Amino acid sequence: MMRFKAPSIEIKSANEIEAMRTVGRMAGDTLFKVNEILKPGISTEEINTFVHEETLRLGATPAPLNYKGFPKSVCTSINEVVCHGIPSPEQLLRDGDIINVDVTHIFEGFHGDTSATFYIGTPSAEAKKVTEIARKSLELGIAEVKPGGRIGDIGAAIQAFAEPQGVSVVRAFVGHGIGRTFHCEPQVSHVGTRGRGPRLRPGMTFTIEPMINLGTDECEILDDDWTAITADEKLSAQFEHTVLVTEEGCEILTVRPGVLTKSECFPDYFS
Ligand code: MF3
Ligand code: CO
Ligand code: CO
Repeated sequence: MMRFKAPSIEIKSANEIEAMRTVGRMAGDTLFKVNEILKPGISTEEINTFVHEETLRLGATPAPLNYKGFPKSVCTSINEVVCHGIPSPEQLLRDGDIINVDVTHIFEGFHGDTSATFYIGTPSAEAKKVTEIARKSLELGIAEVKPGGRIGDIGAAIQAFAEPQGVSVVRAFVGHGIGRTFHCEPQVSHVGTRGRGPRLRPGMTFTIEPMINLGTDECEILDDDWTAITADEKLSAQFEHTVLVTEEGCEILTVRPGVLTKSECFPDYFS
């Protein structure tokens, strides 16, 4: 007797995977170009205009624009903003800020979703800590992706790394299946238990996008109905890739053409 309904996680065909590679690379290219324009004094609206125009130049569509009413083409989340920050001409980047820029493109019906946290000028020790833990959390999550593994392995690895350092892992937002749909099964929690959750199979595509907070993991949503901030207004950082489960392990679909010089500044932080 069937006791449990198997979660319906789509397995992509070779053609669908190729389309996911194409759009993933496009989103990675755009994030790479964002790196070049970031500096103190620019507004998050300028980042939005740049991403919007760059997306269209590639022949793609910015997925955030009008998604469930989101008003802009990219999410820009500064300092205590956990995610879903709305670009604004009034909001200027300042020396010492950290900002997550989250780019999602749609091309030929498929989505590619990727983000990074960047340093504006010189970071504080706290900004470095939360950002480098978030970067390493994504890396460790990705390292768990292989056929036969479980979704829960990803969150377990991230939680085991991050929490002992006195930071928290956000529960309220999760990674997600992605393809023709922006957000679908499976949910990819960034905390969890090894061996639990759906089994990973070749052809699955999903995001891993850990949000790490310096203080509490609790979040509040601002009156704009989108911007999520930390309840204690301490710093938050996030990195995101769209990945594919392969026969061998994992392929990062949102690859970038080079180093994010304003993000990947401290490669030896944990060594
Ligand atoms: N890119 C975000 C994610 O990683 C989703 C943004 S939804 C939006 O899932 F509407 F805010 F754009
Ligand atoms: Co995502
Ligand atoms: Co995203």
